[in-house]
Amino acid sequence: MKIGVIGTGHVGLITCVTMSAVGHEVVGVDADPEKIQILLDGGCPFFEPGLQELLDRQITEGGLRFTDSLPMAVEGAEVVFISVGTPPRASGEANLIAVENSATQVAEAATDDLLIVEKSTVPVGTAVRLRTTIERLRARSDGRIEVASNPEFLREGHAIDDAMEPDRILVGVESTWARDRMRSVYAPWIEKGVPFIETDIATAELAKHACNAFLALKISFVNALARICERAGADIEGVTTTMGSDPRIGGAFLRAGLGYGGSCFPKDLAAFEHLSKTLGYDFRLLQEVARINDEAVDAVIAKVKDALWNLEEKKIALLGLSFKPGTDDVRFAPSLRIATDLIDAGATVVGYDPVANNVAANDVPGLLVADGPYEAAAGAHCLIVCTEWEEFRKLDLVRLKDEMAYPVIVDGRNIFDLDQMEAAGFTCYSVGRRSVTQ
Ligand code: UDX
Repeated sequence: MKIGVIGTGHVGLITCVTMSAVGHEVVGVDADPEKIQILLDGGCPFFEPGLQELLDRQITEGGLRFTDSLPMAVEGAEVVFISVGTPPRASGEANLIAVENSATQVAEAATDDLLIVEKSTVPVGTAVRLRTTIERLRARSDGRIEVASNPEFLREGHAIDDAMEPDRILVGVESTWARDRMRSVYAPWIEKGVPFIETDIATAELAKHACNAFLALKISFVNALARICERAGADIEGVTTTMGSDPRIGGAFLRAGLGYGGSCFPKDLAAFEHLSKTLGYDFRLLQEVARINDEAVDAVIAKVKDALWNLEEKKIALLGLSFKPGTDDVRFAPSLRIATDLIDAGATVVGYDPVANNVAANDVPGLLVADGPYEAAAGAHCLIVCTEWEEFRKLDLVRLKDEMAYPVIVDGRNIFDLDQMEAAGFTCYSVGRRSVTQ
């Protein structure tokens, strides 16, 4: 099947490479000339494990190409995915202008029957808006144009695996014609036995927001528990192990730490809460989820200030700058707020991240970056773990202590074993766990 993909970001580009990997003929387009030039030159606009290799293979095998012309991506396509950005407005409401413009341009370029599919996470009711917009254009085109919803469930750092081996595929459709087209698109997955959930469009749009909101809720719940554990002298990991052993709760997404960042949870929660309000329901629980998430970062910053007394003339190292391991994405990353706050307080802040150094340094004025964890730690009065990259769990603690001015660690992601910290002579403050002081 010929498929067009509008928007080649973290969702669209994964859609391009995986849809072509299963045999579809895919054309991807992006309005950002820089991004599309990188792709036309065979590069990758962002880091995602395995993406460059799959991109190389699919372009070589010919099932995938890129263009800066949207009509070329639409020409001959039976399905066009809209995977453009939906950034938050100041109010928290999702800004859907890119979705509207893309769908309008797609409808105008359509020369045959076409199914336009919402891949970006959008508030419930967006498809109704799209249908109205397209109807206004239909006077000028006689092909059948319908809208469907097909939310993505990709985790950055695991996006290709999540796309190739999804827990489920969700499609929202309003006709058997649209349903059949989506079944054709996903035939390779359906044949593998991947659960294929078919709903109406509004249900699919809302289910996506519900999933992300609930995952964020689990994280904030455990971070609130960590505050209580710290005050009660209890251990958050013993609590979450106990919770997770109940299959009704499940152990995933119960890791206490600096909370969630990324381009999805913060934005989707704000959009879902705003959307609920416009429907007349005050979803105050989501406000609490966001408040507790901010509080998780405040708590780590407070630990640093408490450990170091005055911050002027202090040097602080940040281990990890991306919002999570496996990506160079720093959007809403806790590390950025921590760096900004400490720099504003007069400290010198040096960060190290395996892939996000430059992206983070561009985002935070005054943030210095180092080529490795030990270089970042050199002369540091405190080291803060912001992202739980695997390599940080294997650091040589003797060498690390020798590099630092003070042996003080604030472990924002609970990656270090506290007995090892004690034995190595560190003072270590972490999240919901006992403090180790020398
Ligand atoms: C998320 C959803 O998982 C995915 O289904 C959706 O399509 C997009 O949003 P992503 O934002 O890439 O994916 O990352 P995810 O792995 O879900 O983690 C989100 C954030 O929560 C990260 O900042 C992570 O550090 C944090 N997190 C996750 C915790 O703080 N504790 C946990 O236990 C799990």
